[in-house]
Amino acid sequence: MDFTQIVAKKINHVFEDTFEQQHLEKVIEQPKDLSKGDYAFPAFILAKHFHQAPQVIANKIVSGIDHSNFAKIEANGPYVNFFIQRSQFADQLLKDIVSTAHFGQNQDGIDQNVVIDLSSPNIAKPMSMGHLRSTVIGEAISKIAQANGYHTIKINFLGDWGTQFGLMIAAYKHWGDDDLINADPVNELVKLYVKINHEAESNPDLKDEGRAWFKKLEDGDQQATELWNWFKTVSLKEFQKVYDRLGVTFDSMDGEAFYNDKMAPVVKMFADKGLLTKSQGAEIIDLPKLLPDENYPIAMIKRSDGATQYITRDLASAIYRHDHYRFAKSLYVVGAEQKDHFDQMKAILRLAGDDWADDIEHIGFGLITMNGKKMSTRKGNVVALADVLDAAKRLAAKQISEKNPDLKNADQVAEEVGAGAVVFNDLQKDRHLAIDFNLEEIVQFEGDTGPYVQYTHARAMSILRKSKQTVDSQTGLILEDDEAWMIVSKLASYPGIVRRAWQLREPSVVAKYLLLLSRDFNSYYAHTKILVDDSGLNSRLYLVTALSKILEDGLNLLGVHAPDQM
Ligand code: ARG
Repeated sequence: MDFTQIVAKKINHVFEDTFEQQHLEKVIEQPKDLSKGDYAFPAFILAKHFHQAPQVIANKIVSGIDHSNFAKIEANGPYVNFFIQRSQFADQLLKDIVSTAHFGQNQDGIDQNVVIDLSSPNIAKPMSMGHLRSTVIGEAISKIAQANGYHTIKINFLGDWGTQFGLMIAAYKHWGDDDLINADPVNELVKLYVKINHEAESNPDLKDEGRAWFKKLEDGDQQATELWNWFKTVSLKEFQKVYDRLGVTFDSMDGEAFYNDKMAPVVKMFADKGLLTKSQGAEIIDLPKLLPDENYPIAMIKRSDGATQYITRDLASAIYRHDHYRFAKSLYVVGAEQKDHFDQMKAILRLAGDDWADDIEHIGFGLITMNGKKMSTRKGNVVALADVLDAAKRLAAKQISEKNPDLKNADQVAEEVGAGAVVFNDLQKDRHLAIDFNLEEIVQFEGDTGPYVQYTHARAMSILRKSKQTVDSQTGLILEDDEAWMIVSKLASYPGIVRRAWQLREPSVVAKYLLLLSRDFNSYYAHTKILVDDSGLNSRLYLVTALSKILEDGLNLLGVHAPDQM
């Protein structure tokens, strides 16, 4: 039970439980100003009920209430302010945090599966900053889901099918050079892709060639298949390097091509249910006609040349995931610009009678720009993620060498801080907001950055190392000062943060919390001599130990390392 509940219950008790518990809980405030207590009850909301002045009611509460757990309960005008017994509370909480393996995690989702579609880059292109968001948001949501007891299945739905591969093959046939490709596969393939898109603007025949190659690929032509396989293998090898650096893993790499033989039965099912219409040789689902009150566009299921579409493959994959994973929720971590696609997909599934479509959620996110510029592969101005991670690592290494020149595993720490900066930056704002990316700003040890949280954690660990002692759980803790109390009360809210982050599918809830917690600790550190050998030492070390655990746990939920020194 949390304190809001305790306070509400005690107040209700004063009035013989006249009121609805939840109604009281809802109005209880947590004042920003600690001199107004940890909780405040606005007695004026009961004024009408009793036909009495709020001050009178406030006084009545103070004299009638059970004071246990509180150091002080006092009337303050129309409010009743509650002051928690700090040391008693800190003693319980900090010892609990330090002795529990994963304080803050819960079992809400026990025995339930959550499928998460994340990253899902297109092969034969470098993984761009554009795929960074999906990867890191998806990974963080997976970890947060697990912290809430769910079992997660992470699927990398590779974009390994579609007309662009026909175009790619056509380009290779015209200008491809095996030696160049083998030396620097993905970059060479991109060059070919950019070239053919450019040339096709003046030579439309190239587009037809591309279409013809894609048809061959769909029909299983050997040459086309071999080339496609080659493109895929070299791409995956390069993607894997980035995933390793970000610490991201997948349970399935079933991409679009995996569904090639799974679409026919799905299309047939739609036909059997009377959802499919022929239109100029193509097969469509006429959503405007089937759902006249909604605003969905027509879904192209099969083109007149028989080629299937992105939506067809996603419909097949949604059904496959449902049959295979029996999910409680199926999440798609994909840019907000694909919202209509997923709305359309869910509408079609519902029309087909699949109620579980309601458990599908599009986890959209805003556009990422780099120094104000959009990125597009077709135009050739992509920023490869691997290059960004390298640059971030260099910036981190520079700061580490200034701050801590003797650090032993400096290279590894620089990698963890550089990647941590990139990942944290991506997660700290509400995911639907657009973010701009400026490397210099995000790899800073001060400010709203990942390295700032990592540095705070390392600072806490260094204090603990210097103390050369372990905490003693036998003696009672004494922590009464405001600065320590700010940290203690924030640590107490961590379990609620973990829950909320999942409920909102919002890693930023954790990231923002970690920034605030770090801020509180740094101001404590600035005002308090922690390592003085007096009767409060053990209590302060408990506080630092608990804080370091929560910082590490929170960073890990976001997929960010928490090095012990930096
Ligand atoms: N490959 C797509 C792209 O890069 C994203 C795929 C998202 N997942 C899905 N099931 N549609 O735009």
